[in-house]
Amino acid sequence: MKRFFAVIGDPIAHSMSPGMHNELFQANQIEAHYQPLHVKRENLEAAVAGLKAVGIEGFNVTVPHKEAIMPYLDKIDPLAKAIGAVNTVVNEGSELVGFNTDGSGYVEGLKKDLPCFSEKRTLIVGAGGAARGIYYTLAEAGVEHIDICNRTVQKAMRMVDECPYSVQSKILSIDEAEEQLSRYELIIQTTSIGMHPNIQAVPLSLRNLSGNAFVSDIIYNPSETIFLQEAKQKGASIQNGLSMFVYQGALAFEKWTGIMPDSDRMRENVLEQLG
Ligand code: ATR
Repeated sequence: MKRFFAVIGDPIAHSMSPGMHNELFQANQIEAHYQPLHVKRENLEAAVAGLKAVGIEGFNVTVPHKEAIMPYLDKIDPLAKAIGAVNTVVNEGSELVGFNTDGSGYVEGLKKDLPCFSEKRTLIVGAGGAARGIYYTLAEAGVEHIDICNRTVQKAMRMVDECPYSVQSKILSIDEAEEQLSRYELIIQTTSIGMHPNIQAVPLSLRNLSGNAFVSDIIYNPSETIFLQEAKQKGASIQNGLSMFVYQGALAFEKWTGIMPDSDRMRENVLEQLG
C-alpha cells in the first residue's frame, strides 16, 4: 500500500506542496502519495482524528490552521510550542507530533544566500506567526541582536517577552524603523503586505535603506514584491520567500522519510508550478 501524506488548509487548491512532495517521493523511489485536503475550521478536530485513524504518516498544516491545530495533537515540539504554530505533523507510532519547519526553513535558506547572517545588524518587520518562527529560530541559532518593528508595538513586545532563547531586541514603531533603517544590514519582511491581491502596498518606506543591506521578503508570489523592487533599486541584495517555502518542505520531508532532499530540484518544481 502506498504511504500517505497530506496538507490541510482553507483554501488549499493553489498549494504548491502536493506537486513538490509528490515529485520528491518519485525522485527518491518512495511509493507514497501527498494529497491536498480542504478542511474548514469547524471540521479541523474531526479531520485530525480521521487522519490519525487512517494511519497517515505525516501532514503539513497551512493557513488558517497552524495555531488552531495545536490542541488536537498528542505532542508538540518545544520550539513549535514557543512559536505557537505547527506546520508539520509526524505520526510517531500512533502519536501525532507537531513541529514548525517554517522558521528553520527560513534560516536554512538564509544560510545559503547570506552565510554570515549571524553577524548582521538585523531588523524583522512584523510580529505574527511567521515572524515568531523566524525570530525564535534565529535566537535559537545564537544570533545575539535582532530588532523588531511592527504596526502593533504590543504584539512585538509579547513576541520578545515570550522568546525562550537569549537574544537582545529593541522594538521600534514603523516610523522609527523608517528613520533608523540605514543602521540595518539584514531586513526580514514577514508580513503579508505586498502579497496578491495587495501587491502595491509596502510595510515601510525604504528611503533610508543602505545600499549594502540584504533585504529578504517571505513572499514568493509575486516573485518580487514592490518592497523588494525598491530595495533592489537602492542597490541592496534581495531574497524572496521561495527559499523559505522550499526548505520548510525539505525539512518536513526529512522528518517523514529521514532523507534530506535536493533543494535545487524542489525550487525548479515550484518555479514550474508558478509558471
Ligand atoms: P502570519 O501568521 O502569516 O505571520 P499574522 O499572525 O496575522 O500572520 O501576522 C501578520 C503580520 O502582518 C503582523 O505583524 C501584522 O501587524 P499587526 O501585529 O499590527 O497586526 C502585519 N500586518 C498585516 N496587515 C498589516 C497592515 N495592513 N499594516 C501593517 N501591518 C500589517
